[in-house]
Amino acid sequence: MKVAVLISGRGSNLQALIDACESDDFPAEIVLVLSNKDNVQGLERAEAADIPTMTLSPKDYDDRASFDCAMSDLVTQSGAEFICLAGYMRLLSDDFVRTWRDKLINIHPSLLPSFKGLHVHEQALDAGVRFTGCTVHFVRPAMDEGPILAQAVVPVLPDDNADSLAERILEQEHKLYPLALKLIAQNRVRVAAERVIIDDHCAPEGALSNPQGFPTPTK
Ligand code: GRF
Repeated sequence: MKVAVLISGRGSNLQALIDACESDDFPAEIVLVLSNKDNVQGLERAEAADIPTMTLSPKDYDDRASFDCAMSDLVTQSGAEFICLAGYMRLLSDDFVRTWRDKLINIHPSLLPSFKGLHVHEQALDAGVRFTGCTVHFVRPAMDEGPILAQAVVPVLPDDNADSLAERILEQEHKLYPLALKLIAQNRVRVAAERVIIDDHCAPEGALSNPQGFPTPTK
């Protein structure tokens, strides 16, 4: 499966996807990395892996709709049939989301639907939750909403601050995102009535629902 990755910055999740795609038995290939910001680390990571990159600046477009339309055209021209958002920090227009419906996923550093938007780790600490984590979901027009494909749980420790929590969650993001993409590329995922159904799901590597060794569902 040919995949485009949209980024805005550091690109550590992009790197996890690049590393996964390099293994012979991984059924996806990244054909384009598109950034809305110049000179970000994610672009360097893509170039180091010989993946074509493009940067589109929102300043060159009249509005979000025309920017997103240009982005969508570039993705299509690259041959990509699926899009991963990996730290892409712009809201997407309804048209873009409609065009790529069920072919567009995002990773978010909380257990959605809790803690949407920015400063998610502060939100989790403020709420006093004992567990948080990360979520891979299909994208819908509303921010951080959409059918949930995979989640990983991370405990909140007594001494955690936003940085320490972010670091531990990021480790799980780097496992969860390639796993989610693999399931999709294996054609084992479908969305029905806004729920994600995974065919023959036997919780591969235990990471799909919980990396901490808790029981994992088999169906
Ligand atoms: C990650 O925490 C991701 O969940 C969120 O933005 C951050 C991006 O980090 N959407 P990176 O650019 O992948 O390192």
